[in-house]
Amino acid sequence: MEYKDIIQQMSLEDKIALCSGADFFHTKEMKHYGIPEMMMCDGPHGLRKQEDKADNLGVNQSVPATSFPTAAATACSWDTELLGKIGAAIAKEAAANKVGVVLGPGVCIKRNPVCGRNFEYFSEDPYLAGKLGAGFIREAQKKGVGTSLKHFACNNQEYKRFSSDSILDERTLREIYLTGFEIAVKEGNPATVMCAYNKINGTYCSDSKELLNDILRKDWSYKGLVVTDWGAMHNRIEGFQAGCDLSMPGGSSYMEKETLEAVKNGRLKEELIDLCASRVISMITNALKALGKNISYDIEGHHELARIAAEQSAVLLKNDNDILPLKSGCEIGLIGYMAKEIRYQGAGSSHINPTKLVNVTDVICNVPYEEGCDSAGNTTQELLDRAVALAERVEIPVIFAGLTEQYESEGFDRKDMKMPEGHNRMISAVAKANPNTVIVLMCGSVVEVPWIDKVKAVLYMALPGQAGGEAIVNLLYGKMVPCGKLAETWPVKYEDCVNASYYGNKDAQYREGIYVGYRYYDKSELEVRFPFGYGLSYTKFHYTNLSVEPVRGQDDYQFKITLDVTNTGTLEAAEIVQLYVAAPQDGIYRPVRELKGFKKLFLKPGETKKADFMLDERSFAIWQDGWRVLNGNYNIQVGSNSRNITLEKTVMITGEVIKTPEWQKSSWYEKPIGAIQKLEWEKLLGRKVVEKPLKKGEFTMENSIVEMKKYSILMKIMYKAVERTVAKGFDGKIDYNNSTFRMMMSSSTDSSLSSMKINGGMRNYIFEGLLEMVNGHYLLGIKYMLKK
Ligand code: BGC
Repeated sequence: MEYKDIIQQMSLEDKIALCSGADFFHTKEMKHYGIPEMMMCDGPHGLRKQEDKADNLGVNQSVPATSFPTAAATACSWDTELLGKIGAAIAKEAAANKVGVVLGPGVCIKRNPVCGRNFEYFSEDPYLAGKLGAGFIREAQKKGVGTSLKHFACNNQEYKRFSSDSILDERTLREIYLTGFEIAVKEGNPATVMCAYNKINGTYCSDSKELLNDILRKDWSYKGLVVTDWGAMHNRIEGFQAGCDLSMPGGSSYMEKETLEAVKNGRLKEELIDLCASRVISMITNALKALGKNISYDIEGHHELARIAAEQSAVLLKNDNDILPLKSGCEIGLIGYMAKEIRYQGAGSSHINPTKLVNVTDVICNVPYEEGCDSAGNTTQELLDRAVALAERVEIPVIFAGLTEQYESEGFDRKDMKMPEGHNRMISAVAKANPNTVIVLMCGSVVEVPWIDKVKAVLYMALPGQAGGEAIVNLLYGKMVPCGKLAETWPVKYEDCVNASYYGNKDAQYREGIYVGYRYYDKSELEVRFPFGYGLSYTKFHYTNLSVEPVRGQDDYQFKITLDVTNTGTLEAAEIVQLYVAAPQDGIYRPVRELKGFKKLFLKPGETKKADFMLDERSFAIWQDGWRVLNGNYNIQVGSNSRNITLEKTVMITGEVIKTPEWQKSSWYEKPIGAIQKLEWEKLLGRKVVEKPLKKGEFTMENSIVEMKKYSILMKIMYKAVERTVAKGFDGKIDYNNSTFRMMMSSSTDSSLSSMKINGGMRNYIFEGLLEMVNGHYLLGIKYMLKK
């Protein structure tokens, strides 16, 4: 039966009910209409299907699945085909497990290096993030399984992620935070888009007509389904009005009742519910087509793919005197706990139970090894002495370090960019004992490397997935040549980040505007540790013959760009060529250059290949109440990273003339150096941003237990009660050093009362009652709580 016919048969109550989940990961089965249930599972780096107890934080066990390198790693491959292969493999595992939709990929922008979920996102650049996301989606969906592009939108911090408000100007929203989604939607066409928990300029994403209807559906012609992030449905009535189709995990029956009343009293049109319900049915029907067959997958083959992905994603950050690749027969020593327990994935909803796991010490087992530090990244004098003694004995000590699990996770942000003190001490001590020290870094986000001048080589693996150990060894010994390039800038120190001083507040003020990542560092000419797009190789490449030709018969802005790339070294390897457009700097403020194309070429020694790119209107456009191309000379730049432009040509573009607004003249945005003051930003926004201090008597459902416990004994007691309940899952131990414990605490006690109400199985008026009491209105509070 066609889904339109099904809708016609359905009662209003059932249509509303279908638009919220049956449980954590299933849609509702409605046998009498022939609607089966469908399962959705995380996630972006492998399948997290829970068969017994389900949760959205990756706490309970899931079925074995291949753990691919995380997005922070695969982004450095700049390889859309590779992302496609990973997407297809995950989709196949999903189909084999009867899962209809995979909850990923995530294309949020890395606005600041300490965001706890950066390991799940691709880049600071929307073009790169969007293209990689689209690559994943396209191939995954060819297997018949749907994907969920997330978290739409402006979800760039974990701190108070359920209730924070991302405040930003329209241009920044469109150019930086929406462009990646736009590319992934238009080029990948994901079956579902997952709306984020947070608000944008005061409106929750789930309620935002502007975001879900006007931008996603109208501007980008999206025909698929919008699902909430888990527990992100803020107001069901507004959600239906905005086109937010499916509320997951569901379970908020009060919302269904409110919706029913709203239709009955004419506040909400039934057609809007029909639209949402029909999109739910069509998502289920499409996904179930693939799940009818019995599918199996090749566990070993997928493990191999995970290894290849890790190899293609590794970035060689330093290699003095060509110390790498290691020569066969050279005497090495392995140092660091992470050699025998590699850090290969992140914590939270993307956490996978791997089919197998290969550590470095499983592959290199016949060389001396010292722990140097413990699993938490702490060290002792004894551990250091032993590591130093080993370093003195061998030609090359290879240290494994980075961020331990305690440092990064869904649910909270890091406090700075520092590596564990124990890792830094271990590296300094070993490097002092032996100047030929090589470092292998495993971390899901950027770190400070204060010891960089003391070591010979650094190989960055990010979080390389279950085959990480094999990939590392192949790269160290030159069986594979590193070819990855950084998908985010590494600043020298955290304080260099443009938003370091105001990032991580409940209300996220995007004062820096479009100056995110290299767009800021290049414009402010600040020294960085490693620029965007940077990465070394064991071979060398040479770029020549740049040609920039207008494409006749097309619009005025189409250009074909070609250049020759030659491998001038002695090893077969890949090179990632980057194309930037540098817009005129004398009008409306612009970044120095922006990525508009990239190509990965595999070249034999001595071989030359052509890299070709197309530029179009959008490559030159900025957002000014619509996409506009401005008049002027644009430099078409080609290079191996954002700060190493080797070839360039100027093209004259005849576009519009838009007057530079008065407020911009001599403002921070023309020469952005250091942190920007709120007043400057308000000029860009065109309005004042009022920061309301917390005050007893004025708390709302938007406040969390953590926020209110300073002012209320009741909330203190609630905090302790939640803490004790969470601790039960950790042998009764209250352990804030454990990332899962911390994530669970922040997800519960630091989420707003309204989102606790949405997620919690508590009765309707409990939270309103509590709120009244916290505000000092005890009688009213009790009255609420007694209300049914
Ligand atoms: C995360 C999503 C995830 C969902 C389901 C949420 O907490 O933010 O990324 O897909 O849980 O596990």
